[in-house]
Amino acid sequence: MSNKAWGGRFSEKPEDWVDEFNASVGFDQILIKYDVQGSIAHAKMLAKQDIISQADCDAIIKGLTEILKDYENGNLPLDISLEDIHLNIEHELIKRIGDAGGRLHTGRSRNDQIATDMHLYTKDEVNEIISLINAFQQTIVDIAEKHIETIMPGYTHLQRAQPISFAHHILTYYWMLDRDKTRFQDSLKRIDISPLGAAALSGTTYPIDRHTTQESLEFANLYENSLDAVSDRDYIVETLHNISLTMVHLSRFAEEIIFWSSAEANFVTLSDAFSTGSSIMPQKKNPDMAELIRGKVGRTTGHLVSMLTTLKGLPLAYNKDMQEDKEGLFDAIHTIKGSLRIFDGMIASMTVNVNQLQSAVEQDFSNATELADYLVNKGVPFRTAHEIVGKLVLWAIQHNVYLLDVPLTQYKDAHASIEADIYEYLKPENCISRRTSYGSTGHDAVKKQIEVIKQKFKTTNE
Ligand code: ARG
Repeated sequence: MSNKAWGGRFSEKPEDWVDEFNASVGFDQILIKYDVQGSIAHAKMLAKQDIISQADCDAIIKGLTEILKDYENGNLPLDISLEDIHLNIEHELIKRIGDAGGRLHTGRSRNDQIATDMHLYTKDEVNEIISLINAFQQTIVDIAEKHIETIMPGYTHLQRAQPISFAHHILTYYWMLDRDKTRFQDSLKRIDISPLGAAALSGTTYPIDRHTTQESLEFANLYENSLDAVSDRDYIVETLHNISLTMVHLSRFAEEIIFWSSAEANFVTLSDAFSTGSSIMPQKKNPDMAELIRGKVGRTTGHLVSMLTTLKGLPLAYNKDMQEDKEGLFDAIHTIKGSLRIFDGMIASMTVNVNQLQSAVEQDFSNATELADYLVNKGVPFRTAHEIVGKLVLWAIQHNVYLLDVPLTQYKDAHASIEADIYEYLKPENCISRRTSYGSTGHDAVKKQIEVIKQKFKTTNE
């Protein structure tokens, strides 16, 4: 006799290599905890509705609990000819408790079963991702608070543009991650829904109660349409998108860390614990963690595109194509959780080279806009001021000096209104502290920004 749950209709047995192609148990076993949880909720509901006896229900719960324990202790053999985790568990349950085990699948299909497992799993993982983002944001804010007055060059086109505060720069990543966090939080509305009881596609003739299973699995809501319940993979696409975008943000930050830790910049020094050496060049200390995070965006973006492509043109309701929703999601979740943890540790332990950042700002022309603003304050139209400063910058380049070293006579030649106070005016720290506009890099504005962030932390952690 075939060991297949669906063996009755078949007279021929698939070859091993066909079984292997068909099987998902190699990867869907990570859902075992949720599968057992869903089955217990289903069995309890069947007993409550008098569809199975209380004695059968008790035997099922005991059997499933033991199966899960055995799996966790490495004592549950899994068989690829039994396809997936659902059929492996059911087979084992029937082996252990007999007919009662065979009654578990009443009024249910693997189609609503796998959907239930995936909803439970995704909900747990998204909640964990949200806490990891939160912890990472906290680390960013802790660093920012120590560096409100640390000055660095702000860039556009990777050319030095205007001096900014180091705190202001890294807080940008706080805000990116904040949008990511709210996207994950919002997605829970579409993840936290129970498909259980939709059965294969059309519902069932047994007097089941879907609200009971919804409540015992603590789902906030339930699908209103049984076909939709078993066909919907939107929440997986959405989670993959949210992961991909967060990874894109992490890769931008990682790129900055890689540049900052180069000898050319030397703006930060990574701790040894988050760096690696070279097998040939003894002097090397490489930012491998940041590079890996930057590189892993390839896979998360790939998983998003592959899920969208798998779903394209799929007719209703369940199709086996949908088994392809798992490995990409599992890998994307594993990747983002690892990346967030590593990034957090990496920046918490890095040294910010304050003096190096300060001297980088002193050796550039990033105070040129300030000189133009100085002239504007003396009544010169901005366009004219821009032209005058452009010429002064050219003069300085030709004479191998920066704006703070240009002699006053030269300034006077450029425009009579320039006075000796220009040297104080052009100091990078003064360029920053003069910025008072809301959300700017000025010290008071950054302090205000940190206050807003702390208030947000307080309200979300309440
Ligand atoms: N392993 C399957 C999956 O992951 C479970 C659902 C199978 N349903 C079916 N009708 N073959 O999609």
